[in-house]
Amino acid sequence: MPTRSTAKLIVGNWKMNGDPAGARAFAEALGGGTGSADAALVVCPPTPLITILADALAGSDVAVGAQDCHVAVSGAFTGDVSATLLAAVGARYVIVGHSERRAGHGEVDSLVAAKAAAAHRAGLIAIVCVGETLAERDGGVALTVVEQQIEGSLPASATASNTVVAYEPVWAIGSGSTPTLSEIAEVHAQAHASLAARGAAFTASDAPARVLYGGSVKPANAAEILALAGVDGVLVGGASLKAADFLGIAQGATAGALGGVSAR
Ligand code: PGA
Repeated sequence: MPTRSTAKLIVGNWKMNGDPAGARAFAEALGGGTGSADAALVVCPPTPLITILADALAGSDVAVGAQDCHVAVSGAFTGDVSATLLAAVGARYVIVGHSERRAGHGEVDSLVAAKAAAAHRAGLIAIVCVGETLAERDGGVALTVVEQQIEGSLPASATASNTVVAYEPVWAIGSGSTPTLSEIAEVHAQAHASLAARGAAFTASDAPARVLYGGSVKPANAAEILALAGVDGVLVGGASLKAADFLGIAQGATAGALGGVSAR
């Protein structure tokens, strides 16, 4: 049995979906989580649902996260939310640099790094998203893009304990398409090399360096992806909205731990 620190991290990103009643029902359906040491669950709902989910999941080992944060602690930033406040209302993680924020809100690597640093100051674990577009994949520069985004999007404060990288090919998000298993493994090997190159913060930490895969993960493909070397968990959008699917994906962690053979 893996220890807690080597459990696969299964993160749900609800995006702009969900409501209070649905959040309570989701928490109830999730129960105490998977009951397995192979998977650690995190749910990232829209900001107004963080407290509701955190309260409903109190006492379980399912953690709650946010989808974005501002770089400042407080101030005249209408519509923004600080990492400090997210932590105060029950978040333990925050996603930064998701491709939908990079594309829809013009977020660049330096801003993503500043947001991750703010998350660290607030005691949150930053889930930093990187990933190539289809044109970049077709142009043969996926590895270079991911390497450069990791370099530019991780602040000096990043360690294996406070930072998780999520490799999400932009073209795989919400599309039903995924890279091949060998393409995923190739990017994860390179992402781990990029983290190792940052030195002791990632190589001598109590926590292992973690790189998640995201983009069209569902119960049917989770086990084979989670079984890949260098895949330390998954970041799940659409399939995280239903508790049964989310738990089905988490079960893939157990199948992966058993060598990629589905338990069923
Ligand atoms: P998807 O989204 O699972 O719906 O493809 C993943 C993500 O955007 O984090």
